[in-house]
Amino acid sequence: MNLYDLMMKRRSVRIFKDRKIPESVIEQLLDVANQAPSGGNIQPLSIILVRSHEGRKKLAELSGGQPWVATAPLTMIFCLDFYRIKKWAELCQTDFRGEGALNHFLIAYADLMVAAQNVVILAESLGLGSVYIGSIQHEIDETRAFFEIPEYVLPMMLLCIGYPQSIPQSVPKLKKEVIVHDEKYHRPNEEEIRRAFDEKYGPVDRNLEKYLERAFLEALEADKLETSKYVERVKKEMKRLDIQNSAQFLFKVRYPTKVMVRLNHRIRQSFKKAGFDIF
Ligand SMILES: Cc1cc2nc3c(=O)[nH]c(=O)nc-3n(C[C@H](O)[C@H](O)[C@H](O)COP(=O)(O)O)c2cc1C
Repeated sequence: MNLYDLMMKRRSVRIFKDRKIPESVIEQLLDVANQAPSGGNIQPLSIILVRSHEGRKKLAELSGGQPWVATAPLTMIFCLDFYRIKKWAELCQTDFRGEGALNHFLIAYADLMVAAQNVVILAESLGLGSVYIGSIQHEIDETRAFFEIPEYVLPMMLLCIGYPQSIPQSVPKLKKEVIVHDEKYHRPNEEEIRRAFDEKYGPVDRNLEKYLERAFLEALEADKLETSKYVERVKKEMKRLDIQNSAQFLFKVRYPTKVMVRLNHRIRQSFKKAGFDIF
């Protein structure tokens, strides 16, 4: 399969076979992470490999109980790492203060995701599947404590990897034309915006299960792995809040705006604890 087809058919995979990934394959995944582009080629990145039952269980707990984190045979913790660089600068009688420089931070976070996406693509080409877990950002303190992560290092993203047991068929995306602008930014009008998202998600129909299959696949996937009855809970919440459309579903049920804004404080505190003084 050529690279275009491979990348077009990639889906986030959340249900994995109980099968180990050979060490030689893991080495290749790490090679492409390390070979990724990096701003100034500074490489402010560390990757913690988690394969143990204990580590996976802990990560699942820290990710808000997402069951695939416990069942994936391998999870990589992508850490933004200024510890190594700071020490090196010090040893060389100079000063690196990425922990206080927004520009260094933003570039380092981009570096981290670029490296992780290299892993995603190679994994896909080797018959593996993967899923990012961003919610680890809510639990930076405990993740740092459990994995003995030092100051100036932030665990920012998980990538769960394994052989797929099942692969989701399709996930709605905006039409390409919606995100592409020719030379100058085209400010979309209300009608264009409404149409773009209607075409992406379709209406919230009466058959909530069918709707969730399109809009919130994770809920259905979680129920396949557990007896959590996650879908039932989401459906109840949708009824309680009288959800009428996909935006209400996203920002009242999945990512409630108040909760997301309240998280700022927690994330800021975690950054401070790790020695970062940016926000
Ligand atoms: C930054 C980032 C964070 C994500 N966090 C999670 C997560 O916490 N849990 C999860 O199940 N999927 C997570 N995903 C996967 C998305 O849900 C998925 O990419 C999206 O639904 C589109 O599906 P696709 O990857 O199959 O195209 C994340 C993806 C990205 C890029």
